[in-house]
Amino acid sequence: MKAAQRIMKVFVSRRLPPEGQKLLAQAENCTIQQWESDDPVPRAELLKGVAGAHGLFCLLSDSIDKELLDTAGPNLKVISTLSVGFDHLAMDEIKKRGIRVGYTPDVLTEATAELSVALLLATCRRLPEAIQEVKSGGWKSWTPMWMCGYGLSNSTVGIIGLGRIGMAIAQRLKPFGVKKFLYTGRRPRPECAAGVNAEYVSHEKLTEDSDFVIVSCSLTPETEGLCNKDFFSRMKKTSVFVNISRGSVVNQEDLYQALVTGQIAAAGLDVTTPEPLPTNHPLLNLKNCVILPHIGSATYSTRNTMAVLAVNNLLKGLAGEEMPSELKI
Ligand code: NDP
Ligand code: DGY
Repeated sequence: MKAAQRIMKVFVSRRLPPEGQKLLAQAENCTIQQWESDDPVPRAELLKGVAGAHGLFCLLSDSIDKELLDTAGPNLKVISTLSVGFDHLAMDEIKKRGIRVGYTPDVLTEATAELSVALLLATCRRLPEAIQEVKSGGWKSWTPMWMCGYGLSNSTVGIIGLGRIGMAIAQRLKPFGVKKFLYTGRRPRPECAAGVNAEYVSHEKLTEDSDFVIVSCSLTPETEGLCNKDFFSRMKKTSVFVNISRGSVVNQEDLYQALVTGQIAAAGLDVTTPEPLPTNHPLLNLKNCVILPHIGSATYSTRNTMAVLAVNNLLKGLAGEEMPSELKI
């Protein structure tokens, strides 16, 4: 006689992209409780849903902290997040409890790098401002210095965090005629850097020498607030700042001051603090600040692939098997 299978409880904190949803529906030996909405699960519902669960499927907007882990209790064995970033997970607490974590590296690298290039170009060539001028009648005639911006050709690009996405951004920017790539990180990465001939430098040198500064590092205690008054004051007045990492890497008050005082030329942000950014936030009044709603990985195919990977991480983890993408804790 076949041994009775243990039925495990899983909480899923959002409606998933279709391919992920389809795979989840085929899961065996699980009772799945899901917050079936495109809106974030309220904290109280998340806590209720996770109590006694063996598996948790979460998003970057869910804070997986000590309170939640205590509420989940000792059953919780696997957390699968629909993201490559894991700054929303209390890793020390997770490690203490021996919980396995799945995440989604690599599959979103190309989409995010592509969006980063689009944001950089939109910011340095002032596209949202120019489109608005066309619509509002501000376009009077072809005027020599009107709507001029800064181009990539012959420029120096500084990348903070030459990881998977940072490297993919550099590769995409190279054909635009970038003269020099600089990068920072916890340590030099000569094998990666060689592909774009990037030079490992200090944060100070990177900010001082770059025409474009792109932030693509992970959010950690060391990178939180890294882009502050001192950071912006070192940048050239003609330089353009882009952040696709996490909002908290930037001190937004200091960025606002740098933009209004002309300390830097412009900024493009795909990530902010908080998210969503309130519609009355001062940064939204600045013509030289382009803000996107965290859409780096937002292509149909990427989001479906992320969802399938994250569901597979969850199910393999619950089965005690190797996950396709397990975070090494
Ligand atoms: P990787 O782990 O490949 O890269 C992270 C990079 O951050 C590494 O190069 C690492 O440097 C660097 N880093 C860590 N600490 C520091 C530090 N103190 N100073 C400078 N650099 C540092 O991750 P990915 O490239 O896949 O993703 C990077 C981040 O991008 C994610 O963590 C996430 O926050 C964000 N992201 C945003 C998206 C969006 O939609 N806007 C989409 C996907 C990701 P080192 O090489 O020395 O370890
Ligand atoms: C991530 O994966 O960390 C992004 O921010 C969303 O794709």
